[in-house]
Amino acid sequence: MTQMMRAVEISQPGGPEVLTLVERPMPEPDQGQVVLKVAYAGVNRPDALQRAGAYDPPPGASDLPGLEASGEVVALGAGVTSLAIGDQVCALLPGGGYAEYVATPAAHCLPVPKGMGMKEAACLPETFFTVWSNVFTRGGLKAGERFLVHGGSSGIGTTAIQLANALGARVFATAGSEAKCKACTDLGAERAINYREEDFVKAMKAEGGADLILDMVGGDYIPRNVKALANDGRLVQIAFLQGPVVELNFAMMMVKRLTLTGSTLRPQSDLAKAQIAQNLREAVWPLLEAGRIGPVMDSSFDLADAAQAHARMEASDHIGKIVLNVGG
Ligand SMILES: NC(=O)c1ccc[n+]([C@@H]2O[C@H](COP(=O)([O-])OP(=O)(O)OC[C@H]3O[C@@H](n4cnc5c(N)ncnc54)[C@H](OP(=O)(O)O)[C@@H]3O)[C@@H](O)[C@H]2O)c1
Repeated sequence: MTQMMRAVEISQPGGPEVLTLVERPMPEPDQGQVVLKVAYAGVNRPDALQRAGAYDPPPGASDLPGLEASGEVVALGAGVTSLAIGDQVCALLPGGGYAEYVATPAAHCLPVPKGMGMKEAACLPETFFTVWSNVFTRGGLKAGERFLVHGGSSGIGTTAIQLANALGARVFATAGSEAKCKACTDLGAERAINYREEDFVKAMKAEGGADLILDMVGGDYIPRNVKALANDGRLVQIAFLQGPVVELNFAMMMVKRLTLTGSTLRPQSDLAKAQIAQNLREAVWPLLEAGRIGPVMDSSFDLADAAQAHARMEASDHIGKIVLNVGG
């Protein structure tokens, strides 16, 4: 008989209220996968986009939302030798984190950092995979460079500030309130710019321009980012909260020798994600285990209250990460 589990599904595209608690069959592990008994599931802005019908799961992925979780390995697929039943891990997921059990490639699991709880560990994968691959691999941030991250108090922003600071960059951030700006400087930003009161282009030009900008806002930030970049600067785009269509004078790209790039994590190959996991294990997990960096926790909701978690995220009052308590 098929074993059932509790899960939250998107009953139809719409607002937070379409998130519905249901019973679903428990997943089976495919070759190279493990099944986790989920303790906590991280909530990310892309989940809200998926719920609204603007970010479909890639082919073969669960239709349930949820891109990261912590939990215990309870089943191994064929060929899995790197993990054992009972291991406690946090994992990047192809989807399906808002559920009591989820399947994911073993190579996308990382150990729960020593000294860290399951709640905090659930908040690591989505932002650390995204920040590592965009800021360091794609953007090539180096020690001593000036790094600007927009949305500094977001899940992504709080991760980017800490990692860039720990690896020796000079960090600048934008955020929409004094409390959010304080959170950014507490995390290691040299300067936080309240964009409602101050022009980030002027602020960065006064510093000599940004060597790298990580942007999730888009819209009129795109031409302003180009102005704020220093010679040989790089702009890495990871979202377009204000829209992707703008008028841009590309002459600046040539004159300042700029690189304009970006990426999304979810559609990348399993192999590419496994490589990012390996990089994180080597370069970042020691920093987490030494307590030099860690997730910034905003709030926790029960799985059944996923709609409230999404409403909190979309109100944009949060600082750091929101999680769902599934079986923690
Ligand atoms: N490319 C990828 O692979 C990838 C992966 C993960 C996430 N992302 C993207 O990265 C962004 C951050 O994700 P997250 O989970 O960290 O989100 P989050 O915690 O909800 O943060 C988003 C923040 O952006 C700021 N913001 C600035 N302009 C905004 C606007 N026009 N509308 C809404 N918010 C605005 C808000 O803070 P202020 O009050 O300071 O404005 C808000 O707190 C999202 O856009 C997400 O889709 C991309």
